[in-house]
Amino acid sequence: MAELRALTFVPVDLESLATAEGRIAVFITPDLKLSAGARRLNRLTKGALARATGSEAWDKLGEGKAMSLNWPAGLQAQAVDLVKLPRRPAPDLARKAGAALALSAGSSAVTVLVEGTGRPEEIALGLALRGYGFDDHKTKKGDPFGTATLMCTKPDEAEAAAAPRLAVAEGVHFTRNLVNEPANILTTTEFAKRLEGLRDLGVEVEVLEEKALAKLGMRALLCVGQGSESPSKVVIMRWKGGAKGDAPLALIGKGVVFDTGGISLKPAAGMEDMTMDMGGAGVVAGVMHAVAKRKAKANVVGLVGLVENMPSGSAVRPGDVVTSMKGDTIEVVNTDAEGRLVLCDVMWHAQETEKPAAMIDLATLTGACIIALGHENAAVYSNDDSFAGTFLKAAETEREGAWRMPLGQAYDDMLKSPVADMKNIGGRPAGSITAAQFLKRFVKDDMPWIHLDIAGVAHVKSDQELSPKGATGWGVRALDRLISDRFEAKD
Ligand code: BES
Ligand code: MN
Ligand code: ZN
Repeated sequence: MAELRALTFVPVDLESLATAEGRIAVFITPDLKLSAGARRLNRLTKGALARATGSEAWDKLGEGKAMSLNWPAGLQAQAVDLVKLPRRPAPDLARKAGAALALSAGSSAVTVLVEGTGRPEEIALGLALRGYGFDDHKTKKGDPFGTATLMCTKPDEAEAAAAPRLAVAEGVHFTRNLVNEPANILTTTEFAKRLEGLRDLGVEVEVLEEKALAKLGMRALLCVGQGSESPSKVVIMRWKGGAKGDAPLALIGKGVVFDTGGISLKPAAGMEDMTMDMGGAGVVAGVMHAVAKRKAKANVVGLVGLVENMPSGSAVRPGDVVTSMKGDTIEVVNTDAEGRLVLCDVMWHAQETEKPAAMIDLATLTGACIIALGHENAAVYSNDDSFAGTFLKAAETEREGAWRMPLGQAYDDMLKSPVADMKNIGGRPAGSITAAQFLKRFVKDDMPWIHLDIAGVAHVKSDQELSPKGATGWGVRALDRLISDRFEAKD
């Protein structure tokens, strides 16, 4: 599994530059005022830095991007990476620069002359996030990422600021590793096993098996998994870093380890992508990892519904009516609208047993969400403007795309069933909204709630600024920030 690149923070040592091995990276401000480190490198290379930054290519280089000088005379290093960055970069620009360093460094060790550049913690985060690859199932592994040594004017301060950010990066990697895993490896049982590993970080982990779920009355969740050989499970993860008795934030995730559609079978083309249909549960797991690793002073409980949606002789049929844990009956018109059946029971259970202060659910819920927002934004639904506003602000700060969508009675009306309290689909129009409206029926009055449809952002087909193609880990950073902004005691 892809490990985080090893990062160390050390004092600036200009003497060591002449003999440093691997690569050296240095930040150059747009006004070309060279830092002490850059001046030293320029002297050692007999003006190579000045020549490079005087070129037309440098003028055209975007901020946060790198230009490389290979095998520069006068140094032992194989390359000097010049990164265009102001001395006081905005956090997102600092992350971008870190990501550029991760790409140019690859498997080489890199000495980064951070010196007095601002936001070293975001530079470190960018380095850690973009340094990711998933080659567990290749017989020929890529070379591991090289180490990064960050030379800082105040290394202790930089290291302290970076620690919580690197904890979040670890959470993002945890999410990506789960989401990238194929479904024959990441079965419901294996998923639960990996979540039990969070105990090492001090998270309390409880696994509810099918028998317990049946006793609780989770017939909606259970009907989704009943066609599969893999047993359905609900895993509850509790991080108790806050004051005793403080109501927790509950995070609920859709964990469909593979979605064939069931008897309402999906078309063959692209079905292999449905290994990522546990993306919501993956994000919940990543956030639990992050808050535990950075020892957040907050109470957070994560609940994931782990099931596999398969067609078989025992599978749920279109037209079947099931009773949810809440007691409401559901006509399963389309077995491919399974995520909401899983979530509604886990959400109800979360409210009954954990008595949360607020609740956020995440799911790769609808293809309609991708039609509406593409791969740029997750759909955000909420019954609470202030709560939604705090989340949107956190997502904006982290540059994780999120866009508020409407709810309303007319959409709810589309779920009327002739035989049961509701049906599980609302028809073609507004598919992401009617799915949210279905979930809203399982939110108690006065419970602040956000639903995130992450179908478009959990997994993408092209490289992103902070992640290679495949699983992105979208949402781990925004949710971690929401927790520190709204649920964490400040000392
Ligand atoms: N897991 C899918 C949604 C999905 C599609 C996620 C593409 C990621 C990429 C979900 O379970 C599903 O099948 N939804 C149906 C709902 C429909 C039957 C009302 C859909 O979107 O087509
Ligand atoms: Mn489906
Ligand atoms: Zn699904």
